[in-house]
Amino acid sequence: MPDFVAAVDQGTTSTRCMVFDHAGREVARHQLEHQQILPRAGWVEHDPVEIWERTSSSIQTALNRAGLCATDLAALGITNQRETTVVWNRRTGRPYGNAIVWQDTRTDRIASVLDRDGRGDVIRRKAGLPPATYFSGGKLQWLLEHDERLRRDAEAGDALFGTTDSWVLWNLTGGTDGGVHVTDVTNASRTMLMDLETLDWDDELLGFFGVPRAMLPTIRPSSDPELHGRTRPTGPLGGEVPLAGILGDQQAAMVGQVCFAPGEAKNTYGTGNFLLLNTGEEPVRSDNGLITTVAYQLGAEKPVYALEGSIAVTGSAVQWLRDQLGIISGAAQSETLAREVEDNGGVYFVPAFSGLFAPYWRSDARGAIVGLSRFNSNAHIARATLESICYQSRDVADAMAKDSGVELEVLKVDGGVTANELCMQVQADVLGVEVSRPVVAETTALGAAYAAGLGVGFWKDTDELRANWAEDRRWSPTWSEEQREEGYRGWRKAVERTIDWVD
Ligand code: G3P
Repeated sequence: MPDFVAAVDQGTTSTRCMVFDHAGREVARHQLEHQQILPRAGWVEHDPVEIWERTSSSIQTALNRAGLCATDLAALGITNQRETTVVWNRRTGRPYGNAIVWQDTRTDRIASVLDRDGRGDVIRRKAGLPPATYFSGGKLQWLLEHDERLRRDAEAGDALFGTTDSWVLWNLTGGTDGGVHVTDVTNASRTMLMDLETLDWDDELLGFFGVPRAMLPTIRPSSDPELHGRTRPTGPLGGEVPLAGILGDQQAAMVGQVCFAPGEAKNTYGTGNFLLLNTGEEPVRSDNGLITTVAYQLGAEKPVYALEGSIAVTGSAVQWLRDQLGIISGAAQSETLAREVEDNGGVYFVPAFSGLFAPYWRSDARGAIVGLSRFNSNAHIARATLESICYQSRDVADAMAKDSGVELEVLKVDGGVTANELCMQVQADVLGVEVSRPVVAETTALGAAYAAGLGVGFWKDTDELRANWAEDRRWSPTWSEEQREEGYRGWRKAVERTIDWVD
C-alpha cells in the first residue's frame, strides 16, 4: 500500500490540494484562488473552466513540491463548496456558462413562491431543507429557464448537472473520454432534489424545479473503494489513483474533526460559518431554523445525519473590510485593529450580504452597521465584524440546543478564521463554552482524505482516525453571564433592523 493519501478541496474562493500521511500529518499543499464574478447586485458566479485549471495546477504543484507521483498515493478524495451549480455538455466538455455560486440570490422569486402553494413543506419533509436561494434546485431551474439549448440538451441527456465535486471528478476521470458522472450523498442532500430517507433523486422534487433526471449524477456513498472511478493517466496526477472519497466541505470538516458519535459538533470558520451536530442514523427535523443534512455515509454502512446551522457571511465579512472598505490590508490586521479597543463601543455589524441564512432564512435581509456614534472608529468596526462571526454562531448554537436537547460543553473549531485568537476568545465569551482548535486546522481536506483512505483500507476504521486528533489550543469564557446576555440582546436588536429590507 502506498504511504500517502491526497485530497482536493475545491472551495468558494480557492482550490487546494493537500497530501497526508497515515498519522494525518500534512506532507504537501498548494492553493490557488479563482475569480469571484459579481455581474450585478446579489449575483455571484465562478468560471468552471478556471476552477478545473486551478484544480489541475494545484494537484501538480503539490505533488511536485513533495517529490511525489501517482504511485505514492493510495487514494484521492474530493471535497467542495456545496450547492454551487455547474452545467456542462457531455460531448464537448464545455460548460453552458458560469457556475451559480451558493451565495447568489438571483433565485429569490423561485424560492419565495415555493411556500405559497405547499411545495415548501414537501421540500422541508423530503429534503430536510427550507426553500431558499442557497440550494442547487432553484439555481438549476433558473439556468434551464434561461437557456433554450441547455433545456433541449438536458432532455436529450447531453447536458449534465453537478456541484463542483462532480465537475472536478468528471474531468479527473476522463472528461469527454469516459468521465464518471457521480456525486455523494452529502452533496446531493444540498440540492432540494434528493429524498433524505431513500438517498435517491425524488421525482416529485425534480418536478417542482422542472429538472430532467437524465442530467443528474449518480449518488454514491461518501467513501467507496472504486465506485467514484480512477484518475486518468493523462490528467494532472499522471497515473491511475482511486477516487475513493467525496464529501461536501462542511461534512468533510466534520469527518476531519472525528465527530463520529451522536452529540459531537464542530464549527468551521471559512467564507461563511457552518456548525454541524452529529445526530446519528436517523434524520432529526428542525423546529428552529436549522437544516437536516447527511453528515457522511462510509461504504455500505448506514448514513449518518447532522443538524446544520449555515451562516452565509463570516470570513467574507473580514474580506469586505479589506477589499471594499479598505480599513485593513489583510485578514490578520483585523485582529490587531480590533485589539485597539476594549469592546465594540456599542457598534453591531450584521453582514447580511446574501440575506440571512440559519436560523432566520430571510432573503429580504441586507447588511447593517448600527449603534454608531462620533466616538466610534475603524477599530470598533473591526471588533464588531469579529463579534458578528461569534454572535451568528451563537444564534445557530441556541437553535441546535433547542432542537437536539444537547448543550455544547466544548466547541471544536477549524478553518481560516480560527487563526484569529481574539475572535476565538470572543467566541468562547459569547457562547459561554470552551472553544478547542485541533493541531491540523485544515480539517476539510483532511476529512476528504480520511473518506478516501477508509474507502481503500489505508485507514482501518474511524477509531484509527480518532487517535490522530490532537488539540492545539483551547479558549475558556471570561465574560460574566450578565455581560454575555447584554451583548447578545444588542445583537438581536441589530438583526431586527436588517430584516424586511428588500421588497
Ligand atoms: O455551503 C457552502 C459551503 O460549502 C462553502 O464553504 O468553505 O467554501 O466557504 P466554503
